[in-house]
Amino acid sequence: MNAPLRVSTPEAAPLDPLMPLAARLRRRERLSDDVALFTVTLEQPEMGGPTGANHQPGQFVMLSAPGVGEAPFCLCHAASTHEDGVELCIRRVGEVTARLFDLPEGALLGLRGPLGSGFEMDDLVGGDLLLIAGGMGMAPLRSVLQAALTRRREIDRLILIDGARTMADLIFWPELAALPADVERLFALDDPSGARVEPLITGHVGMALAQVALDPNRVKVALCGPPVMLEPVVRGLEARGVSAEDIFITFERRMSCGVGHCGHCAMGRRYVCVDGPVFSAAAARELGEGLR
Ligand SMILES: Cc1cc2nc3c(=O)[nH]c(=O)nc-3n(C[C@H](O)[C@H](O)[C@H](O)COP(=O)(O)OP(=O)(O)OC[C@H]3O[C@@H](n4cnc5c(N)ncnc54)[C@H](O)[C@@H]3O)c2cc1C
Ligand code: FES
Repeated sequence: MNAPLRVSTPEAAPLDPLMPLAARLRRRERLSDDVALFTVTLEQPEMGGPTGANHQPGQFVMLSAPGVGEAPFCLCHAASTHEDGVELCIRRVGEVTARLFDLPEGALLGLRGPLGSGFEMDDLVGGDLLLIAGGMGMAPLRSVLQAALTRRREIDRLILIDGARTMADLIFWPELAALPADVERLFALDDPSGARVEPLITGHVGMALAQVALDPNRVKVALCGPPVMLEPVVRGLEARGVSAEDIFITFERRMSCGVGHCGHCAMGRRYVCVDGPVFSAAAARELGEGLR
């Protein structure tokens, strides 16, 4: 059933965390066949809500398409680098995302957030920082990467491993290829044909990780990728002496409210929407879900 979009108005204070704020689709830029970068601005940022300048890397928003529904999407840029609305990197998979791809630029949307607990940058700086992304995992890790670049002097080695099936699936590759020379990087493609990034290995991110020298006592890791990737990558890091306390992972669960009310996103005794989506590997394992 198509429900009309309800949005908060200035009279509706205090802000209801379940009530989307009116927002506008400013720009939609194709990144691949089924992924695009959306820029969305609040109609009345003075009411609160995600402005693009008030979030932590790894946090997310609930974005609603009028008459269809809403879904969670991570903020894919660092707050300090973008004050002109939020950037969301969205893959077209189902009803809500299909509608978001079909709407014209300028369309009215609903936006709630910023939500959840993201990456604590203070925990990631001070030594080496390794970012490991698989597929759409680069969306949340782009915000960590941008934040890390603003604190570059507090990080010794900044290392990025980014993997995808094909070159066409490697989102954000032009800006990753143009990173400063002191950012170590290694790309992994299952199918390397037509590759336009280097250095490159043929295979998955676990294989790329095996080629990167690490000091387990200095490195902090931010990790995001498909569930099937997480376990072997964490095991691979631990086998090299990296503590599960120093590996931070963003998890996805089906969500409804996004604010800890409905229980849809339970991971063990925690809710991914408020206690996460970022958990240390140690915490995720203790919850008995997400990691073994
Ligand atoms: C915290 C968080 C951050 C997210 N960030 C992004 C992002 O930055 N970009 C992006 O494209 N997507 C992101 N997602 C996933 C996105 O919210 C879902 O794909 C959403 O369901 C799409 O809505 P839809 O109506 O288009 O598709 P749906 O009809 O809801 O789903 C399409 C298919 O995807 C499956 N699916 C949907 N969500 C999940 C899930 N969480 N886990 C496993 N399977 C699922 C469904 O079972 C179905 O088969 C995020 C999810 C979470 C929880
Ligand atoms: S989505 Fe409702 S409790 Fe997390």
